[in-house]
Amino acid sequence: MDFVSFTILFVLACITIRALRSHFTKSTKPNYKLPPGPSRLPIIGNLLEMGEKPHLSLSKLAKTHGPIMSLKLGQKITVVVSSVEMAKEVLLSYDHLLSNRPIPQSVSVLNHEHYSFAFIPISPLWREMRKLCNTQLLSHKNLDDSQHVRRHKMQELLSDVHRSSQIGKAIDIGTLGFKATLNLLSNTIFSIDLVESTDAAGEFKDVVTHITNLVGTPNLADFFPVLKKIDPQGINRRQAKNVRKVLDIFDRLINQRLKLREGNGFDRKNDMLDVLLTISKDNKLIDKTVIEHLFHDIFVAGTDTTVSTLEWAMTELIRNPQVMEKAKKELGEIVGNNGVPIEESDISKLPYLQAVIKETLRLHPPVPFLLPRKAKSDVDIAGYTIPKDAQIMVNVWNIGRDPTLWENPTLFSPERFIGSDIDVKGRNFELVPFGAGRRICPGLQLANRMLFLMLGSLINSFDWKLEDGMRSDDIDMTEKFGITLQKAQPLKVFPIKITN
Ligand code: HEM
Repeated sequence: MDFVSFTILFVLACITIRALRSHFTKSTKPNYKLPPGPSRLPIIGNLLEMGEKPHLSLSKLAKTHGPIMSLKLGQKITVVVSSVEMAKEVLLSYDHLLSNRPIPQSVSVLNHEHYSFAFIPISPLWREMRKLCNTQLLSHKNLDDSQHVRRHKMQELLSDVHRSSQIGKAIDIGTLGFKATLNLLSNTIFSIDLVESTDAAGEFKDVVTHITNLVGTPNLADFFPVLKKIDPQGINRRQAKNVRKVLDIFDRLINQRLKLREGNGFDRKNDMLDVLLTISKDNKLIDKTVIEHLFHDIFVAGTDTTVSTLEWAMTELIRNPQVMEKAKKELGEIVGNNGVPIEESDISKLPYLQAVIKETLRLHPPVPFLLPRKAKSDVDIAGYTIPKDAQIMVNVWNIGRDPTLWENPTLFSPERFIGSDIDVKGRNFELVPFGAGRRICPGLQLANRMLFLMLGSLINSFDWKLEDGMRSDDIDMTEKFGITLQKAQPLKVFPIKITN
């Protein structure tokens, strides 16, 4: 049964039950003032108002109801903040009370809800994983130490593109970027390629995309917890299969490594897996199960987000040839355009490319509401109360297009960041695509490095052409909403090798 038919049936059943209940019981009103919001229908509240593109619907509603508003999604009170000031309240002033997350049903499979770094509440296990990421796995030093594996992967990426350019084959930037991101991540973690061919990357991409799509699919069981056991849309059932596939791959890789480590003369790899296995010997909180689930989250959180940013960045560069020219010129001057991939150490010398990536993240934040937060207790903000257990969404998509913050907000203009000290590290609340506060994305540095390497190398070694007869204005810019905001139509372009 589809979402709409089930909703209608469910609502009819609920109306009857509710009518009977209200006939026999007295209603009690909470004594706090919720943020304003649109009027609610009985039972379903504002569910239908979310539409297919909630980032657009909620930005429109914020124009009427203000920068902090409340909605009722089924039984779930949801507070949406849509301005820089309110985002600061949530992510900075009250971060300590608003750092847990609502756990979607689609995450509650195969015990993932007990181990997921991205979803478990602030707890000793979460703190331990955070500490490990900050000080070891994803620290500057560790990333510096592993940059040679990413350099090697970038050379391969350029060879793939070179082959396509020789036979005049169009490249789907999303699929290419996915293979590259996956292998950049898998080499940083396991020192191996998780996928050999672009086709295999497509398969793994499908599993990861299915996982994120299902996490992003509106699930009646999340809005009406009474439906949890029924799983009316079959989301849990399908998700369990996907998560199983991913966990099985990691289980196999960890077992192989454990075996190798037992052997004499094992050559330490110093990749994330080695670091974690060594730590797990003395650390009671980190064991094999935790490591598998941590890798699941790193792959799921790290691939779609990075690839979608790459695809939007390439799309914007192709639509804005003067920006492309400037970015290429800067690369030519700093790196030289002799076909070699750019180095991670070049990043700080490429302010214009940095501005291109910031501008992409401003206009196309891959996680338009961040990952929702959940109130640990009642929290008063701007004269309103966010009640305990309410979910909080930060509409960074709206903030990125707020005309009071950005001149010509819909214009792709990296120049706006030249000479500005706004960065994406969670200090400037007008640009927080990676979130901020305790739950800020731990993969920020790695994501940034991967984006620079891929985007910089792709545009420094090749010119990019659309299909014959297609103009840059014809590129379809429609967005597809899920947990990440993807480009609905894949960008397919022809590479032309630059010869000196
Ligand atoms: C352009 C790429 C990326 C973007 C835009 C992005 C964005 C985000 C956002 C918005 C959050 C939630 C922050 C909050 O609640 O305040 C998040 C969390 C997270 N991200 Fe990323 N991310 C990216 C890449 C990565 C990468 C490459 C990794 C792994 C290496 C990663 C791992 C995670 C994890 C594990 C969390 C959950 C952290 C927690 O809840 O404590 N992300 N990310």
